[in-house]
Amino acid sequence: MSTHIAAAPGQIAPLVLFPGDPRRAQWIAENFLQDAECYSEVRGMLGFTGTWNGHRVSVQGSGMGQPSMAIYANELFRDYDVQSIVRVGSCGALTEKVALRDIVIANGACTDSGMNRIRFHGQDYAPVADFPLLRAAVDAAERAAEEDALAGKVHVGLLFSSDQFYSTRPELTDPFVQHGALAVEMETSGLYTLAAFYGRRALSICTVSDHLVTHEETTALEREQTFGDMVRIALGAATAV
Ligand code: HPA
Repeated sequence: MSTHIAAAPGQIAPLVLFPGDPRRAQWIAENFLQDAECYSEVRGMLGFTGTWNGHRVSVQGSGMGQPSMAIYANELFRDYDVQSIVRVGSCGALTEKVALRDIVIANGACTDSGMNRIRFHGQDYAPVADFPLLRAAVDAAERAAEEDALAGKVHVGLLFSSDQFYSTRPELTDPFVQHGALAVEMETSGLYTLAAFYGRRALSICTVSDHLVTHEETTALEREQTFGDMVRIALGAATAV
């Protein structure tokens, strides 16, 4: 086992779906994977491995925010030789270009986090998605849109990865929105940076659970429905590259 994951070597698949909420990890395992087995319950941060369309896939909770996510991402890449991590999370829309329940596939992520500032000695790094995974996710989303399920609802663009859910200075995101950021969440810039460091693949796909401009919020039932659409895109992408 690694410091925070109780799996034996080989128990985690090369492809990992990475929701923040460990109960979402369980929901994905129960609803999408065949023969799923739980490999870790350390600190309640559940992880499962099963199969999807014949591919071995794991799903691991990351917790909220970059420090928690980075613990699990480091251990998945370094200790379990994971090749691809696809975050399946939620985000808050920062612009009316994006509607409640839409899906944002992040081609890159801006951040106010100190983590990359420490790593890059105060210089700026541009965390970007793995291109083959990004292309495969866009292809999977376009296939779903052709069936009309997701037409017009999937966006490719920048996320803003914040260290604070309850920001005391929300106006600090304004310049990022003026420069293309679509939505705010709390993990993607760190995930893309770690994937680059380890030479592995990462992609973030997030559904819009709340809208910071219109102040709309999704219900729990709606979150489950859109979460399922996002998981199908993530599984289609992760197993295609
Ligand atoms: N802020 C930060 N992270 C989030 C939000 C938000 O509004 N919604 C979902 N994740």
